[in-house]
This record gives sequence, C-alpha cells and structure tokens, in this order.
Amino acid sequence: MLIAVDGPLASGKGTIARALAARFGLPHLDTGTLYRAVAVAVLEAGEDPVDAAAAEAAALALDPAKIEEAKIRTAGAGAAASIVSAHPRVRAALKSVQQTFARQPGGAILDGRDIGTVIAPDADVKLFVTASADVRASRRWSELVGRGETVSLDQVKSQLAERDGRDASRLDAPLMKAEDAFELDTSDMDEGEAIRAAIAIVEAAR
Ligand code: DC
Repeated sequence: MLIAVDGPLASGKGTIARALAARFGLPHLDTGTLYRAVAVAVLEAGEDPVDAAAAEAAALALDPAKIEEAKIRTAGAGAAASIVSAHPRVRAALKSVQQTFARQPGGAILDGRDIGTVIAPDADVKLFVTASADVRASRRWSELVGRGETVSLDQVKSQLAERDGRDASRLDAPLMKAEDAFELDTSDMDEGEAIRAAIAIVEAAR
C-alpha cells in the first residue's frame, strides 16, 4: 500500500504519517527533510538559497543517509528550505530518490507538499492534512520553544504566512490538494484524535 500525506507546515501531517507508518508497518519518508538538508548545505557552503545553481548542486550532491536531524529542524533551515524548494531543478534532482522510496515492493508512506500530485499520483490513499493558520502557528511555536529557540508567537505567525504563501504560489509543484485526496482538518483535534481519524480514512479506502 502506498500512502501520500500532504499539507502545510504544522498541519499535523508528519505526526500522522509516522503514526500511519507504525500502524500499517510501512517505511516512511518525510520528504521535507530532503529540502531542509539541501537548504542547510547551501547555507553551510556560504551560498544564497535564492541561487538556483547553488541549490541544484547541493540537491545533486545530497546523501539522504547523512542528513543531520539537529541541523535541519531549525526555523532558519525551514525558511531556506521553502526558498530552495521553489527551484524546479532542485525538485527534479530530488524526485527520483522520492519515487524510488515510493515504489518499494511492500509499499511506503511519504509526506510532503506534492506527494499526491507529483511524486506518487498513483498512491492508493491520499490524505491532505490542514489546520487553521492560528492553530498551526501555536503548534509550531511550542515545538520551536521546546527545542530551545527564542522566538515569539507573532514572529512564528508571520513566518508561517510567508512560507504558506511561497509553498502555495510557486510555479513548480505548488502545495495543493490532489483531486482524489481526503481532506483532514485537524484544527479541533488533539494528536490522538487526528491519528485515529487518519487511520479510519486509510482503512475505509483500502
Ligand atoms: O515539511 P517541512 O516544513 O519540513 O518542509 C520544508 C520545506 O520544504 C517547505 O517549506 C516546502 C518544502 N517541501 C516541498 O516543497 N515539497 C515537499 N514534498 C516537502 C517539502
């Protein structure tokens, strides 16, 4: 079974994808880590994420096995990831690693922004996870503060609006719901409720 989980920042898609992977015994790829790792490599090389050639070179050189979680989870890495991910050549360079993962014989689950639309349009089940901007901002803020970052809720709200705008308006593979995706709005759900709702959708669909 191939499951695609898409949605904006802090919608709960990562938590849901991990829980579905555990529930259905599927390997899971959080595709945002690839874009974040490219962004970190660009920044570490002293280059500008806006520079398409530098970002493409970093994407082509990326070794997914060497991604360092601590480095890619910062707000700065996320912001730069949103910039590098708008370059079509970066998306092209990262496509085959995602599709190879998706085509494993036993199935897989991938989460990101364009899994149901571009990477695995043939997925057996597609989920599009959403939540209101305020709910997503406060989730993201708690996560960053919990990790020791000093950032205000207002700063997170404006960063989120900026990233939502960039992810949804880029020309190549913008964030959008696949026509055949089930939409799951987690605004009024806690983690357990969101996971149970996602499991119910997958079970009903297969
Ligand atoms: O899900 P995330 O916050 O880790 O993603 C970081 C950035 O990577 C996000 O702003 C958009 C980009 N991204 C993408 O364009 N396509 C994906 N499939 C996953 C992430």
